Order: sequence, then C-alpha cells, then structure tokens
Amino acid sequence: MIEALLPPGVTSSEVFDDEAPAPLFPAEAALMEGRLARRRRQFATARACARRCLAALGHSPAPLLPGPGGAPAWPTGVVGSITHCDGYRAAVADLSDRTSALGIDAEPAGPLPEGVLGLVTSPAERDHLRELAAAHPGVFWDRLLFCAKEAVYKAWYPATGVWLGFRDATVALSPDGTFTCTLDVPAAVSEPVDPLYRGRWSAGPELVLTVVVRRD
Ligand SMILES: CC(C)(COP(=O)(O)OP(=O)(O)OC[C@H]1O[C@@H](n2cnc3c(N)ncnc32)[C@H](O)[C@@H]1OP(=O)(O)O)[C@@H](O)C(=O)NCCC(=O)NCCS
Repeated sequence: MIEALLPPGVTSSEVFDDEAPAPLFPAEAALMEGRLARRRRQFATARACARRCLAALGHSPAPLLPGPGGAPAWPTGVVGSITHCDGYRAAVADLSDRTSALGIDAEPAGPLPEGVLGLVTSPAERDHLRELAAAHPGVFWDRLLFCAKEAVYKAWYPATGVWLGFRDATVALSPDGTFTCTLDVPAAVSEPVDPLYRGRWSAGPELVLTVVVRRD
C-alpha cells in the first residue's frame, strides 16, 4: 500500500500483523521491559520493518531508539519514519542527502472519535471537510486530515525539535490523492523553514495512510 505513495529511492516495508518474534537489540529490549505485550510486539515489528528499509539502503542492522520527543534516532545519513496502528506496521527511510524529511501515518478507516475533530481542526478546515464529504462521500475525510497532520509532524519534528500543535497546521486535501499542509511556524524555530509540506494519501476499507516526503 505505502510503496505506491512514495517517490523512487524511498524504501519502505509494511506488514499487516506482528511477525513472530521480531528480534530486538539489547537497548531496544531494555526499553520495552515491563511494557504491555501489544506495545512490545508493535515496537518490535516496526523495527523489523525499519531494518529492512536500512538493508535496502545498504545499511547494517542498527538499533532504533527513541530520541528527544519520541522520534526514532536513525543512523547518521538516513532519515525515516515509523507508524503502527491496529493491523498495520510500517517504516520508510531514505538517504539524507536525497531526502531531507519523511513522515508517515496510518489510522484505522472510520470517523474520528467524538469530540476530536474540534480539537484538531480550524473552522475553515471543517468547512473544507464538509465540502469534500458532499462531493466525495465514502471517504473518512476527517480521519484523513488528522492522519495528514500526524505525518507532517513526524517529518517536521526531527528537523526542528519543536512541538507543533494541530492548530498550527492547515491541511487541504485533494480528491486526487495529494494534500498540502501549511504551518504557522512557531516562534521557537530560529532557522528559516519552508512552511509548506506536500503529501500523498490513500484510503482503503481498513486503513487510511498519509506520506510526507521533503526533498530540498
Ligand atoms: C508522535 C505522534 C505524531 C505519533 O503518532 P501516532 O498516530 O500516535 O502513532 P504512530 O503509531 O503512527 O507513530 C508512532 C511512531 O512515531 C514515531 N514518533 C514518535 N514521536 C515522534 C516525533 N516527535 N517525531 C517523529 N516521529 C515520532 C515513533 O517512531 C513512534 O513509534 P515507536 O515509538 O514504536 O518508535 C503523536 O502521538 C503525537 O504526539 N501527535 C501530536 C503532535 C501532532 O501530531 N501535531 C500535529 C501538528 S501538524
């Protein structure tokens, strides 16, 4: 599913259940001690996906430990992103001299839980969602918009180390499978940063998926 959303060169690996048993490096296993079995399986399977991406880029297997803010620390020279939700685990990666930022997110197909939409969208975005739903029923546009913001955040955070709220981002979804996300860049970011992220999405019967790739 995810490969179809990616440009040439970005490697990906996805699975639809937990592989048994996906091996971890000692430092990764130590992190998972005492965690729920579901979280351990999710973490391990996603790392197996990530190591397949690394192998495709010619990198040896390496531990992928969470860095500041929870972002996984990829080996030097690699950027990547991880997602997991019920029935899906995936990783993508590329060389950092070709791709500067990557973000992916998967969410279960279905409407956002009650009360969430108002927290993660502006009134203008809610108008946009109503127009999309009227013209193209059958897509969970609200879930897709949320998913797009999460993918943008995963591309944004490793590059800046700065928290971004849902209201700092304005997403415009296109029925052609693309989206844009324009950020209100927080004052805490000192370097000039392009506020426009472009992404792609897909929506299936079980999952919605979003991908952000920045090459600059
Ligand atoms: C971090 C966050 C985006 C993760 O998304 P999620 O849908 O809850 O969970 P997913 O399974 O899709 O992704 C989890 C993976 O994201 C990665 N991740 C976590 N924090 C991250 C960060 N700050 N930056 C980049 N990647 C991060 C990790 O690899 C994690 O998996 P792991 O713990 O097994 O390594 C979400 O929990 C969050 O904090 N969102 C609030 C911020 C936000 O999205 N703002 C939107 C503004 S545009």
